[in-house]
This record gives sequence, C-alpha cells and structure tokens, in this order.
Amino acid sequence: MAETDTSPFYITTAINYPNGRPHIGHAYEGIAADVIARFQRLRGRQVRFQTGTDEHGLKMARKAEEQGRSPRELADEMSGYFREMDEKLNISFDRFIRTVEPEHHRASQAIWERMADAGDLYLDRYEGWYSVRDEAYYDESELKEGEGGAKLSPQDTPVEWTVEESWFFRLSKYQEPLLELLKTPGFLEPASRRNEMIAFVEQGLRDLSVSRTSFDWGVKVPGSEDHVMYVWVDALTNYLTGLGFPDETPEMAEFWPASLHLIGKDIVRFHTVYWPAFLMSAKLPVPKAVFGHGFLLNRGQKESKSLGNVTDPLGLADKFGVDALRYFLMREVAFGKDGSYSAEAIVERANAELANSFGNLAQRTLSMIAKNMDGVLEAFDSEEVDVDLQGTVNDACKVQLPREFEAMRFSIGIEEWIRAVYACNQYVDEQAPWALKKTDPDRMKVVLQTIFVALRDLAIAIQPVVPDKAAALLDQLGIPEDERSYAALEDRNWFIRHVENGFVVSKPTPIFPRLELPEEDAG
Ligand code: MF3
Repeated sequence: MAETDTSPFYITTAINYPNGRPHIGHAYEGIAADVIARFQRLRGRQVRFQTGTDEHGLKMARKAEEQGRSPRELADEMSGYFREMDEKLNISFDRFIRTVEPEHHRASQAIWERMADAGDLYLDRYEGWYSVRDEAYYDESELKEGEGGAKLSPQDTPVEWTVEESWFFRLSKYQEPLLELLKTPGFLEPASRRNEMIAFVEQGLRDLSVSRTSFDWGVKVPGSEDHVMYVWVDALTNYLTGLGFPDETPEMAEFWPASLHLIGKDIVRFHTVYWPAFLMSAKLPVPKAVFGHGFLLNRGQKESKSLGNVTDPLGLADKFGVDALRYFLMREVAFGKDGSYSAEAIVERANAELANSFGNLAQRTLSMIAKNMDGVLEAFDSEEVDVDLQGTVNDACKVQLPREFEAMRFSIGIEEWIRAVYACNQYVDEQAPWALKKTDPDRMKVVLQTIFVALRDLAIAIQPVVPDKAAALLDQLGIPEDERSYAALEDRNWFIRHVENGFVVSKPTPIFPRLELPEEDAG
C-alpha cells in the first residue's frame, strides 16, 4: 500500500442559508463530508471538520421581512434545524459556525482590512444585475431569457437591476495567479468544473462589488459604517473564523490552509476564483483542494416548493434509518455527478446489499458460532480456499476501498467492499457449514471462523459510511474500541489474541433488518 499521509486534515462544507428548513441536498453534502472526515480519522489523521449556517445577506433579510420578523429571529430558528439535522444524521463536525457570531464579524473585518492594506479595495458605483436567490452579481452576457422575456441567471433564478455605491475588490489583478492555481493538479475537481472555471477566468475578470448600502443585515465594513459586506465575503471567511483567525492560534497553524472545501457545483466560482483571490490579497495561503459535487434529484427532477416534491431528509432517516440513507447516498450516486433518489431505490439498495448480503452474512455466521460452538473461538489452520477468501476481503478493505475513497470515488470504493461481501456469501454457500456440522465439525469451525475474521475487516472498512451499524457489529464481534482504525487491518495477530482473551460470541440480534417500502411511497 502507498504510504499513508498523516498530516492534519481540515474539511469544510459550504455553510447553508437558513432561510428555510434543510432539504435533502443539504443532508447529502453533510453526509459526504462526514464520510470523508471519518475516513481520514480512521486513517490516522488529525481531522477538523466544520459546517454551519450563512446568515447574512439580502435573501435572509427579505425572507424575514415576508414573515414579518427580524432576520436574526429567522436565522436563530432555522439555523437550529440545520444543526439538529446534522446531529440526527450523525455528522461528526467539530465546529458548527453561525455567521452572526461576534468572532465571525471580527474575522471578516480583519480579512477586509488586510485586503484594504493591500490596496485592493476602492469605492465606486455598482450598476448591474443581481440575483438575490444566488446572492450573486451577473454580467449581462451571462443571463438567459426565461418565460415572457424575463431575464434569468445561469442558475435560472430571477435577477434585478441594482444601482448603488459600493466598495470594489480588484479581482482583475489576480487573473494570472488564479489561472495558475486553477491549473494546479488536484486543486479543483472534478475536471469538468475546472475547465469551466479556467474558461471563466480566461475571458477576463472584472472587479467585484463587495459591499452593499441598500440594506444593513450583514457585517459592517470597517471605517465605512453605512456599508455591509457582500454576503459572500463574510460567508467565505467562515473557514478562517472557525480556526480563530485573525489570532495566531494553534488551530490556524495546524489546519490552515484547508485540505478540502466540499461544495455544490453551483458555487464553484465563489470558492475557486473569489475566495482564493481574497486570500491572496490578504496574504494568506489558499485552500489545497475544492470539490464540487453534483445535485440530488428526486426521481430525476429537481426539488422545488412549486412542484411539491421537497423531501425532508429527517423523514427519510426516520423511515429507513440513518445508516441506510447514508449508505444509499454514497453508493448510488457517482460522486461529482448528479444523482437520483426515491424511496424504492433506497429500500432496494439497502435490502440487496445491507440486509440480504452483509447483514445476513453476519447474522447467520454469528448465530452458528453461538449455537454450534457455544460461541467459543479457537485457533485454526486454514486451507487454501480460506486463505484466498481472507486475502480477497483484506485487500478490498485495506487497499481498494481506501484507495477509491481517497480519490473521492465513494461509490466505486463501496462496490469493491460489497464484492468482498458477495465473495464471503459465496464461500459460505459452497462450504455449507450447516452440512459440515455432521460430517466434519472441525472443518465447520474453520469455515465459520474464517468468516468471523472477514466480518471484522468488512465492518472496520465500512465505518465511515455506516458508523452506527458498523459499531454495533464490531461490538458483536468483541473488537475493542482501540482496534477499529484502518491500521488494525494490517494486524494479522488480532484473532489469536481474541481467542486468548476468551471472547465468547453471543446469539446475535440482526443489525440490518430488511426494509419495507411504506404504503405512501409505493406505486
Ligand atoms: N450559503 C451559500 C449557499 O448555500 C454557501 C456559502 S459557502 C461559504 O449557496 F463558504 F461561502 F460560506
């Protein structure tokens, strides 16, 4: 195996606008980031994982106004739902940031001052198109025509003509270093996004309006109190705030620059053009990598309030279980591409792979060990087929899954893993331990214990995806907490220690019960 990188790892999600309740897309990104965070922890890296809510800007202000309350009230309520969702989905963040926090205002003002010191800010007048839904400025040439000739942003959102006094950031000055950065291998994935961004920068960058005067829900511009910062300037700075910037904290030293900003494909421009330019101006290192994932479609359609197909991710988790949902999302969708989901697809995938294959393998093996061996494990000599199976499983767990996860190919990594599960089931079917019970009880023990060993590797490997279920199985197998990292997959003496410690297998309860398709989701 290639040498494992043990450097600190800082991963972030985009922070979400709490202008409504979270939907499945938010859950998807949080889960994906969590899988990466857990995977890197299991690899032995010191991980810091940040997520949170992006609470300023015109979109929030208008939504609050519609509801006849203050933006702060709206933000407090909705941000709470985002945090609750993360907790229910077992998203192991270290820091949940809210941009209304005073520390965040301080950090945003500090980065602003550094950009000002670099001579990169000047006062002028903005006149142009703005999409409140995207919180983004667009050039006339980028707009599309919607129904009845209405102008729409490239993301199909309405735009409005805006004229106001504004501070500008000298984005144009960073064209060359940005191009160089975008061309750096590994900086922006997947490649399709990279090409789009290179084209965007090559066509020439215009300076960016970075403050607003027509409303005041935001971070005040230092020395220019009637201006609030453009919401993306403060939002992006969240990645630094969480480490204690502008103070020279141990967290800043250890975790900046970020290892990975995980974001949706629609906000790549902000993260790979504007954000690095702000950082270059502030004389701070730029993030090492940005990944723009795809969208989740509901039976092939984008979710929207008008279509009435908005899914509550917690409803799905309640129906099918958190880990079945997590498994489905990481398995079904090629990461980086758009993917589709439906209740049937979740049930089908979870039943085929988790219940019928992995769960059943564990359940029948542990039941037989409990029943036919009184749960007592003993040292055994393997035959060639046993050694082959263990090799297949260990390889999938130790080499293939980690290699694919490292490359953000989660679905393929899980596929390698499930193939090893299938190999185990085939081995059990061929070896037929239930028949050996009468004809050759010693051989039966070898077969069952071969699977016991395989189950341990399989459970360790899949922890990032199904953390609770994998832990429950590792508990049934009696694997100590401190022997569950990926390094433990290198240890081939654990079984003999386990025997010597006298671990006894109890009659197991099923960990992956079969799911039923609820009535309301059928048809
Ligand atoms: N709130 C933005 C969105 O949902 C994302 C902000 S990410 C940040 O599109 F880094 F800028 F904070």
